[in-house]
Amino acid sequence: MEFIEKCKMLPKIHINDIETPALVVDYLKLKSNIEKMASFMKSVNCSLRPHFKTHKCPVIANLQIDAGAIGITCAKTGEAEILAASGIKDILVANQVVEPSKIRRIAAIAKYCNIIVAVDDLKNVGDLSAAAQELSADIGVVIEADIGMGRCGVRNVNEALELAERIIKSPGLSFKGLMGYEGHCVFIKDFEERRKKTLEANEKLICYKEFLESKGLIIEIVTGGGTGTFNITSRFPGYTEIQAGSYVFMDSKYNSIEGVEFENAAFIISTVVSRPERELAVIDTGMKCMTGEFGIPQVIGTKGATLKALAEEHGMVQIDEENSNLNIGDRVKILPSHICTTVNLHDRYYVKYNDYIMDTWSISARGKFS
Ligand SMILES: Cc1ncc(COP(=O)(O)O)c(C=O)c1O
Repeated sequence: MEFIEKCKMLPKIHINDIETPALVVDYLKLKSNIEKMASFMKSVNCSLRPHFKTHKCPVIANLQIDAGAIGITCAKTGEAEILAASGIKDILVANQVVEPSKIRRIAAIAKYCNIIVAVDDLKNVGDLSAAAQELSADIGVVIEADIGMGRCGVRNVNEALELAERIIKSPGLSFKGLMGYEGHCVFIKDFEERRKKTLEANEKLICYKEFLESKGLIIEIVTGGGTGTFNITSRFPGYTEIQAGSYVFMDSKYNSIEGVEFENAAFIISTVVSRPERELAVIDTGMKCMTGEFGIPQVIGTKGATLKALAEEHGMVQIDEENSNLNIGDRVKILPSHICTTVNLHDRYYVKYNDYIMDTWSISARGKFS
Protein backbone atom coordinates (compact mmCIF):
# COMPACT_ATOMS: atom_id res chain seq x y z
CA MET A 1 0.00 0.00 0.00
CA GLU A 2 2.91 2.32 -0.71
CA PHE A 3 0.67 4.27 -3.09
CA ILE A 4 -1.98 4.87 -0.43
CA GLU A 5 0.64 5.98 2.11
CA LYS A 6 2.12 8.40 -0.43
CA CYS A 7 -1.31 9.75 -1.32
CA LYS A 8 -2.16 10.51 2.30
CA MET A 9 0.50 13.22 2.16
CA LEU A 10 -0.92 14.91 -0.94
CA PRO A 11 -3.76 17.40 -1.24
CA LYS A 12 -6.93 15.53 -2.12
CA ILE A 13 -9.48 16.46 -4.76
CA HIS A 14 -12.99 15.19 -4.22
CA ILE A 15 -14.26 13.14 -7.15
CA ASN A 16 -17.12 15.68 -7.61
CA ASP A 17 -14.59 18.46 -8.11
CA ILE A 18 -12.79 17.12 -11.18
CA GLU A 19 -13.76 18.40 -14.58
CA THR A 20 -15.71 16.00 -16.73
CA PRO A 21 -15.77 13.88 -18.81
CA ALA A 22 -13.06 12.06 -16.87
CA LEU A 23 -11.80 8.49 -17.01
CA VAL A 24 -11.56 7.37 -13.40
CA VAL A 25 -9.77 4.29 -12.09
CA ASP A 26 -10.68 2.85 -8.72
CA TYR A 27 -7.25 2.05 -7.28
CA LEU A 28 -8.35 -0.64 -4.84
CA LYS A 29 -10.44 -2.46 -7.44
CA LEU A 30 -7.61 -2.29 -9.97
CA LYS A 31 -5.18 -3.74 -7.41
CA SER A 32 -7.68 -6.42 -6.46
CA ASN A 33 -8.08 -7.48 -10.13
CA ILE A 34 -4.32 -7.57 -10.64
CA GLU A 35 -3.79 -9.63 -7.49
CA LYS A 36 -6.69 -11.98 -8.21
CA MET A 37 -5.36 -12.80 -11.69
CA ALA A 38 -1.79 -13.16 -10.38
CA SER A 39 -2.83 -15.60 -7.67
CA PHE A 40 -4.99 -17.62 -10.08
CA MET A 41 -2.07 -17.93 -12.50
CA LYS A 42 0.19 -19.12 -9.70
CA SER A 43 -2.37 -21.76 -8.76
CA VAL A 44 -2.42 -23.24 -12.27
CA ASN A 45 1.31 -23.00 -12.81
CA CYS A 46 1.11 -20.88 -15.96
CA SER A 47 2.71 -17.47 -16.46
CA LEU A 48 0.93 -14.19 -17.14
CA ARG A 49 2.06 -11.72 -19.77
CA PRO A 50 -0.89 -9.29 -19.65
CA HIS A 51 -1.93 -7.30 -22.71
CA PHE A 52 -1.01 -3.60 -22.64
CA LYS A 53 -3.66 -2.66 -25.23
CA THR A 54 -6.29 -2.39 -22.46
CA HIS A 55 -4.68 0.22 -20.20
CA LYS A 56 -1.76 1.60 -22.29
CA CYS A 57 -0.26 2.91 -19.07
CA PRO A 58 3.28 2.10 -17.84
CA VAL A 59 2.29 2.60 -14.17
CA ILE A 60 -0.26 -0.20 -14.48
CA ALA A 61 2.14 -2.41 -16.46
CA ASN A 62 4.59 -2.06 -13.58
CA LEU A 63 1.90 -2.96 -11.03
CA GLN A 64 1.26 -6.14 -13.05
CA ILE A 65 4.98 -6.96 -13.15
CA ASP A 66 5.25 -6.32 -9.39
CA ALA A 67 2.41 -8.82 -8.89
CA GLY A 68 4.31 -11.51 -10.79
CA ALA A 69 3.70 -11.02 -14.52
CA ILE A 70 6.72 -12.28 -16.48
CA GLY A 71 6.50 -9.48 -19.04
CA ILE A 72 3.94 -7.52 -21.03
CA THR A 73 2.17 -8.28 -24.29
CA CYS A 74 1.37 -5.43 -26.66
CA ALA A 75 -0.04 -5.03 -30.15
CA LYS A 76 2.05 -2.31 -31.76
CA THR A 77 5.63 -1.15 -32.20
CA GLY A 78 4.78 2.22 -30.64
CA GLU A 79 3.40 0.49 -27.56
CA ALA A 80 6.57 -1.61 -27.31
CA GLU A 81 8.65 1.58 -27.38
CA ILE A 82 6.64 3.08 -24.52
CA LEU A 83 7.01 -0.14 -22.50
CA ALA A 84 10.75 -0.36 -23.12
CA ALA A 85 11.24 3.30 -22.20
CA SER A 86 9.40 2.71 -18.93
CA GLY A 87 11.71 -0.11 -17.87
CA ILE A 88 9.73 -3.21 -18.89
CA LYS A 89 12.34 -5.77 -19.87
CA ASP A 90 10.26 -8.53 -21.48
CA ILE A 91 7.89 -7.54 -24.27
CA LEU A 92 5.85 -9.63 -26.68
CA VAL A 93 4.45 -7.84 -29.73
CA ALA A 94 1.58 -10.21 -30.44
CA ASN A 95 1.40 -9.14 -34.06
CA GLN A 96 3.30 -9.18 -37.32
CA VAL A 97 5.69 -6.25 -37.82
CA VAL A 98 6.33 -5.92 -41.55
CA GLU A 99 7.17 -2.32 -42.52
CA PRO A 100 10.96 -1.79 -42.84
CA SER A 101 11.03 1.25 -40.54
CA LYS A 102 9.04 -0.56 -37.84
CA ILE A 103 11.28 -3.60 -38.09
CA ARG A 104 14.24 -1.29 -37.44
CA ARG A 105 12.42 0.17 -34.43
CA ILE A 106 11.89 -3.36 -33.08
CA ALA A 107 15.59 -4.15 -33.60
CA ALA A 108 16.49 -0.94 -31.74
CA ILE A 109 14.34 -2.02 -28.75
CA ALA A 110 15.97 -5.46 -28.89
CA LYS A 111 19.32 -3.81 -28.07
CA TYR A 112 18.20 -3.27 -24.49
CA CYS A 113 15.12 -5.48 -23.91
CA ASN A 114 13.98 -9.03 -24.55
CA ILE A 115 11.51 -8.43 -27.33
CA ILE A 116 9.56 -11.10 -29.16
CA VAL A 117 7.45 -10.62 -32.30
CA ALA A 118 4.95 -12.91 -34.01
CA VAL A 119 5.53 -14.06 -37.59
CA ASP A 120 3.58 -16.03 -40.17
CA ASP A 121 5.62 -15.33 -43.31
CA LEU A 122 9.05 -16.35 -44.62
CA LYS A 123 9.97 -12.99 -46.16
CA ASN A 124 9.17 -11.28 -42.86
CA VAL A 125 11.63 -13.63 -41.14
CA GLY A 126 14.34 -12.53 -43.60
CA ASP A 127 13.57 -8.84 -43.04
CA LEU A 128 13.65 -9.20 -39.24
CA SER A 129 16.95 -11.07 -39.43
CA ALA A 130 18.53 -8.41 -41.67
CA ALA A 131 17.54 -5.58 -39.30
CA ALA A 132 18.70 -7.51 -36.23
CA GLN A 133 22.10 -8.14 -37.84
CA GLU A 134 22.46 -4.51 -38.91
CA LEU A 135 21.99 -3.37 -35.31
CA SER A 136 23.76 -6.38 -33.72
CA ALA A 137 20.54 -7.16 -31.87
CA ASP A 138 18.69 -10.34 -31.07
CA ILE A 139 14.95 -10.48 -31.78
CA GLY A 140 12.85 -13.29 -30.31
CA VAL A 141 10.28 -14.82 -32.64
CA VAL A 142 7.11 -16.85 -32.08
CA ILE A 143 5.19 -18.40 -34.96
CA GLU A 144 1.55 -17.38 -34.94
CA ALA A 145 -0.89 -20.15 -35.85
CA ASP A 146 -4.55 -19.54 -36.59
CA ILE A 147 -6.54 -21.66 -34.12
CA GLY A 148 -10.01 -20.84 -35.39
CA MET A 149 -10.32 -17.07 -35.32
CA GLY A 150 -9.45 -16.66 -39.00
CA ARG A 151 -7.11 -13.69 -38.55
CA CYS A 152 -3.32 -13.83 -38.93
CA GLY A 153 -1.26 -16.99 -38.48
CA VAL A 154 -0.11 -20.02 -40.42
CA ARG A 155 -2.84 -22.41 -41.46
CA ASN A 156 -1.03 -25.77 -41.22
CA VAL A 157 1.83 -27.51 -39.45
CA ASN A 158 4.05 -27.76 -42.54
CA GLU A 159 4.03 -23.97 -42.95
CA ALA A 160 4.97 -23.71 -39.28
CA LEU A 161 7.84 -26.17 -39.72
CA GLU A 162 9.23 -24.34 -42.74
CA LEU A 163 9.09 -21.04 -40.83
CA ALA A 164 10.66 -22.51 -37.68
CA GLU A 165 13.55 -24.01 -39.64
CA ARG A 166 14.12 -20.67 -41.39
CA ILE A 167 14.05 -18.74 -38.09
CA ILE A 168 16.57 -21.10 -36.52
CA LYS A 169 18.94 -20.58 -39.46
CA SER A 170 18.52 -16.77 -39.41
CA PRO A 171 21.25 -14.76 -37.68
CA GLY A 172 19.92 -12.23 -35.20
CA LEU A 173 16.73 -14.19 -34.49
CA SER A 174 15.91 -16.60 -31.65
CA PHE A 175 13.10 -19.07 -32.14
CA LYS A 176 10.91 -19.03 -29.02
CA GLY A 177 7.79 -21.03 -29.82
CA LEU A 178 4.14 -20.58 -30.74
CA MET A 179 1.31 -18.13 -30.37
CA GLY A 180 -2.40 -18.70 -31.07
CA TYR A 181 -5.17 -16.35 -29.94
CA GLU A 182 -8.66 -17.80 -29.52
CA GLY A 183 -10.42 -14.49 -30.09
CA HIS A 184 -13.47 -16.27 -31.52
CA CYS A 185 -14.11 -17.83 -28.08
CA VAL A 186 -13.55 -15.03 -25.56
CA PHE A 187 -17.06 -13.56 -25.70
CA ILE A 188 -19.14 -16.76 -25.81
CA LYS A 189 -21.64 -16.09 -23.01
CA ASP A 190 -22.27 -19.61 -21.75
CA PHE A 191 -19.23 -20.90 -19.87
CA GLU A 192 -19.58 -24.56 -20.89
CA GLU A 193 -19.97 -23.61 -24.55
CA ARG A 194 -16.97 -21.27 -24.27
CA ARG A 195 -14.94 -23.99 -22.60
CA LYS A 196 -15.75 -26.48 -25.35
CA LYS A 197 -14.78 -24.11 -28.18
CA THR A 198 -11.67 -22.91 -26.32
CA LEU A 199 -10.43 -26.44 -25.68
CA GLU A 200 -10.80 -27.17 -29.41
CA ALA A 201 -8.69 -24.09 -30.17
CA ASN A 202 -6.12 -24.97 -27.48
CA GLU A 203 -5.85 -28.48 -28.89
CA LYS A 204 -5.00 -27.04 -32.32
CA LEU A 205 -2.09 -25.00 -30.95
CA ILE A 206 -0.76 -27.95 -28.97
CA CYS A 207 -0.88 -30.08 -32.17
CA TYR A 208 1.50 -27.52 -33.74
CA LYS A 209 3.74 -27.79 -30.68
CA GLU A 210 3.81 -31.58 -30.77
CA PHE A 211 4.49 -31.65 -34.52
CA LEU A 212 7.42 -29.22 -34.25
CA GLU A 213 8.78 -31.12 -31.25
CA SER A 214 8.55 -34.37 -33.20
CA LYS A 215 10.91 -32.73 -35.71
CA GLY A 216 13.39 -31.97 -32.96
CA LEU A 217 12.53 -28.30 -32.32
CA ILE A 218 12.50 -26.81 -28.82
CA ILE A 219 9.32 -24.90 -27.96
CA GLU A 220 9.99 -22.64 -25.00
CA ILE A 221 6.85 -20.48 -25.21
CA VAL A 222 3.24 -21.35 -26.02
CA THR A 223 1.18 -18.19 -25.63
CA GLY A 224 -2.48 -17.21 -26.07
CA GLY A 225 -5.62 -16.56 -24.04
CA GLY A 226 -7.78 -13.55 -23.23
CA THR A 227 -9.94 -12.41 -20.32
CA GLY A 228 -12.81 -14.65 -21.42
CA THR A 229 -10.62 -17.75 -21.64
CA PHE A 230 -7.75 -17.28 -19.17
CA ASN A 231 -9.15 -19.87 -16.75
CA ILE A 232 -9.50 -22.47 -19.54
CA THR A 233 -6.39 -21.91 -21.68
CA SER A 234 -4.03 -21.57 -18.71
CA ARG A 235 -4.98 -25.08 -17.56
CA PHE A 236 -4.44 -26.69 -20.95
CA PRO A 237 -1.26 -28.77 -20.79
CA GLY A 238 1.50 -27.26 -22.88
CA TYR A 239 0.57 -23.56 -22.62
CA THR A 240 3.25 -21.53 -20.87
CA GLU A 241 1.67 -18.07 -20.74
CA ILE A 242 -1.59 -16.10 -21.01
CA GLN A 243 -2.11 -12.67 -22.60
CA ALA A 244 -5.34 -11.46 -20.92
CA GLY A 245 -5.71 -7.68 -20.80
CA SER A 246 -9.26 -6.51 -20.07
CA TYR A 247 -9.41 -8.16 -16.63
CA VAL A 248 -7.63 -5.15 -15.08
CA PHE A 249 -10.67 -2.92 -15.63
CA MET A 250 -13.51 -5.06 -17.05
CA ASP A 251 -16.41 -3.48 -18.98
CA SER A 252 -20.09 -4.17 -19.63
CA LYS A 253 -19.26 -6.58 -22.50
CA TYR A 254 -17.10 -8.78 -20.28
CA ASN A 255 -19.63 -8.44 -17.41
CA SER A 256 -22.20 -10.04 -19.68
CA ILE A 257 -20.37 -13.35 -20.03
CA GLU A 258 -20.46 -16.13 -17.46
CA GLY A 259 -17.51 -17.01 -15.24
CA VAL A 260 -15.30 -13.92 -15.52
CA GLU A 261 -15.37 -12.48 -12.04
CA PHE A 262 -13.29 -9.34 -11.82
CA GLU A 263 -14.44 -5.95 -10.57
CA ASN A 264 -15.38 -2.92 -12.62
CA ALA A 265 -12.38 -0.71 -11.94
CA ALA A 266 -12.68 2.01 -14.61
CA PHE A 267 -15.55 4.29 -15.45
CA ILE A 268 -16.38 7.66 -16.94
CA ILE A 269 -17.67 10.50 -14.79
CA SER A 270 -19.89 12.89 -16.73
CA THR A 271 -22.04 15.90 -15.94
CA VAL A 272 -25.64 16.68 -16.86
CA VAL A 273 -25.51 19.80 -19.07
CA SER A 274 -29.13 20.05 -20.17
CA ARG A 275 -32.50 18.84 -18.93
CA PRO A 276 -34.71 19.88 -21.82
CA GLU A 277 -37.50 17.34 -21.20
CA ARG A 278 -38.88 15.55 -18.15
CA GLU A 279 -37.60 12.25 -19.47
CA LEU A 280 -34.34 13.40 -21.02
CA ALA A 281 -31.03 14.40 -19.46
CA VAL A 282 -28.16 15.34 -21.76
CA ILE A 283 -24.66 14.64 -20.47
CA ASP A 284 -21.33 16.10 -21.59
CA THR A 285 -20.00 12.71 -22.69
CA GLY A 286 -20.31 11.39 -26.20
CA MET A 287 -18.49 9.17 -28.63
CA LYS A 288 -15.29 11.23 -28.43
CA CYS A 289 -14.71 9.88 -24.95
CA MET A 290 -16.37 6.49 -24.95
CA THR A 291 -16.91 3.96 -27.68
CA GLY A 292 -20.08 2.13 -28.66
CA GLU A 293 -19.08 -0.77 -30.90
CA PHE A 294 -19.90 -3.26 -28.11
CA GLY A 295 -23.18 -1.52 -27.33
CA ILE A 296 -24.15 1.68 -25.53
CA PRO A 297 -22.24 2.14 -22.25
CA GLN A 298 -24.27 1.78 -19.03
CA VAL A 299 -25.22 4.41 -16.48
CA ILE A 300 -24.49 3.03 -13.03
CA GLY A 301 -25.63 4.28 -9.64
CA THR A 302 -28.40 6.59 -10.91
CA LYS A 303 -31.74 4.86 -10.58
CA GLY A 304 -34.04 5.01 -13.58
CA ALA A 305 -31.40 6.50 -15.92
CA THR A 306 -30.47 4.73 -19.16
CA LEU A 307 -27.99 5.96 -21.74
CA LYS A 308 -29.79 5.64 -25.07
CA ALA A 309 -27.59 7.32 -27.67
CA LEU A 310 -24.21 8.95 -28.15
CA ALA A 311 -23.48 11.98 -30.29
CA GLU A 312 -19.96 13.40 -30.70
CA GLU A 313 -19.98 15.43 -27.48
CA HIS A 314 -23.31 14.49 -25.90
CA GLY A 315 -24.98 11.48 -24.37
CA MET A 316 -28.77 11.14 -24.30
CA VAL A 317 -29.95 9.71 -20.99
CA GLN A 318 -33.54 8.57 -20.72
CA ILE A 319 -35.02 9.17 -17.29
CA ASP A 320 -37.98 7.18 -16.14
CA GLU A 321 -40.73 9.35 -14.73
CA GLU A 322 -40.43 8.33 -11.11
CA ASN A 323 -36.77 9.24 -10.98
CA SER A 324 -36.73 12.62 -12.59
CA ASN A 325 -34.71 14.40 -9.90
CA LEU A 326 -31.52 14.47 -11.97
CA ASN A 327 -30.52 18.12 -12.35
CA ILE A 328 -28.16 20.16 -14.46
CA GLY A 329 -24.71 19.91 -12.86
CA ASP A 330 -25.30 16.48 -11.35
CA ARG A 331 -22.72 13.79 -11.97
CA VAL A 332 -23.48 10.56 -13.80
CA LYS A 333 -21.20 7.52 -13.63
CA ILE A 334 -20.87 5.39 -16.74
CA LEU A 335 -19.46 1.92 -17.25
CA PRO A 336 -17.77 1.62 -20.68
CA SER A 337 -18.93 -1.21 -22.94
CA HIS A 338 -15.47 -1.69 -24.48
CA ILE A 339 -12.76 -0.50 -22.16
CA CYS A 340 -9.78 -0.96 -24.52
CA THR A 341 -11.03 1.41 -27.22
CA THR A 342 -12.45 3.84 -24.63
CA VAL A 343 -9.10 4.17 -22.86
CA ASN A 344 -7.49 5.02 -26.19
CA LEU A 345 -9.59 8.22 -26.31
CA HIS A 346 -8.15 9.62 -23.06
CA ASP A 347 -4.87 11.27 -22.04
CA ARG A 348 -4.92 10.27 -18.36
CA TYR A 349 -6.54 8.27 -15.62
CA TYR A 350 -7.88 10.03 -12.54
CA VAL A 351 -6.92 7.57 -9.83
CA LYS A 352 -9.58 7.31 -7.15
CA TYR A 353 -9.19 6.09 -3.58
CA ASN A 354 -12.43 6.26 -1.58
CA ASP A 355 -14.12 9.42 -2.89
CA TYR A 356 -10.92 11.28 -3.61
CA ILE A 357 -8.68 11.60 -6.66
CA MET A 358 -5.19 10.87 -5.40
CA ASP A 359 -3.17 10.93 -8.59
CA THR A 360 -3.30 11.07 -12.37
CA TRP A 361 -1.54 8.50 -14.51
CA SER A 362 -0.64 9.23 -18.10
CA ILE A 363 -2.06 6.94 -20.78
CA SER A 364 1.26 7.25 -22.55
CA ALA A 365 0.54 4.74 -25.30
CA ARG A 366 -2.74 6.37 -26.22
CA GLY A 367 -2.90 6.61 -30.02
CA LYS A 368 0.19 4.42 -30.48
CA PHE A 369 -1.42 2.37 -33.19
CA SER A 370 1.63 2.16 -35.42
C1 LIG B 1 -3.40 -11.27 -29.55
C2 LIG B 1 -4.31 -11.01 -28.40
N1 LIG B 1 -4.06 -11.57 -27.22
C3 LIG B 1 -4.85 -11.39 -26.16
C4 LIG B 1 -5.97 -10.59 -26.23
C5 LIG B 1 -6.78 -10.52 -24.96
O1 LIG B 1 -7.52 -9.49 -24.68
P1 LIG B 1 -8.71 -9.47 -23.62
O2 LIG B 1 -8.14 -9.71 -22.30
O3 LIG B 1 -9.21 -8.10 -23.80
O4 LIG B 1 -9.71 -10.51 -23.97
C6 LIG B 1 -6.29 -9.97 -27.46
C7 LIG B 1 -7.48 -9.12 -27.61
O5 LIG B 1 -7.76 -8.49 -28.58
C8 LIG B 1 -5.44 -10.19 -28.57
O6 LIG B 1 -5.69 -9.63 -29.77
